[in-house]
Amino acid sequence: MPAMILAQGLSKTYSSGGRPLQVLRSIDLSVEPESFVAVVGPSGSGKTTLLGLLAGLDSPTAGRVLLDGQDLFALTEDERAEFRARTVGFVFQTFHLLPTLTALENVMVPLELQGKGRGARQRAQSLLERVGLGDRLDHYPAQLSGGEQQRVALARAFVHGPKILFADEPTGNLDAENGGVVASLLEELNREARTTLVLVTHNPALAQRAHRVIRLAAGRIVEDRRGGV
Ligand SMILES: Nc1ncnc2c1ncn2[C@@H]1O[C@H](COP(=O)(O)OP(=O)(O)OP(=O)(O)O)[C@@H](O)[C@H]1O
Ligand SMILES: [Mg+2]
Repeated sequence: MPAMILAQGLSKTYSSGGRPLQVLRSIDLSVEPESFVAVVGPSGSGKTTLLGLLAGLDSPTAGRVLLDGQDLFALTEDERAEFRARTVGFVFQTFHLLPTLTALENVMVPLELQGKGRGARQRAQSLLERVGLGDRLDHYPAQLSGGEQQRVALARAFVHGPKILFADEPTGNLDAENGGVVASLLEELNREARTTLVLVTHNPALAQRAHRVIRLAAGRIVEDRRGGV
């Protein structure tokens, strides 16, 4: 079966402030369609950087990434943005909600970007209800708690039914109950919508639900285990 995500020799070096800092060191990774992968590892090991490269949000210093057979960095920036909008959902560690839009409007954005405005409001509303925010539709991000913003970000990431969903610590700001709701929702998306799921998590209960756990340390894959933690 062709890989849904294929990374070859992926490296990233930052050169901010004098000395170059190598954050990822020649990562090779192949993720099958419909799988559920958890990325774990200590703070600073490169997890967010890896996710950003795999999603085409950031460019590698070396190496390449194929998503659903498409070489991301062979595309122009515009083409890549368009491909990403169609194929990928991304939940950022810091949410990145648009401050001037309500929760409902934030979730509608990916549909509108794809010209799927019709029915967008209803779909966005039903997803917000699923993450327990049916009574917060008209709140702006600043009027939402951290965990509520995180759930809005999650609803926004899969409102357009992407083939691949990347999520950076999607339960990081949630209490046990809401963390459980989000974990079940992610599992359901993976199983029912057949979304390939790659998520970074420090939450052992969430990592345990994954089919495969990849551990990073100092920019390298040091463990790649199937069948949960
Ligand atoms: N834009 C940047 N410029 C310079 N260094 C950066 C940049 N972004 C990240 N880094 C460095 O790269 C390393 C890896 O960062 P990254 O955010 O990928 O870690 P992480 O594994 O996600 O950590 P955490 O668990 O704390 O979120 C860190 O040491 C960080 O300081
Ligand atoms: Mg991170």
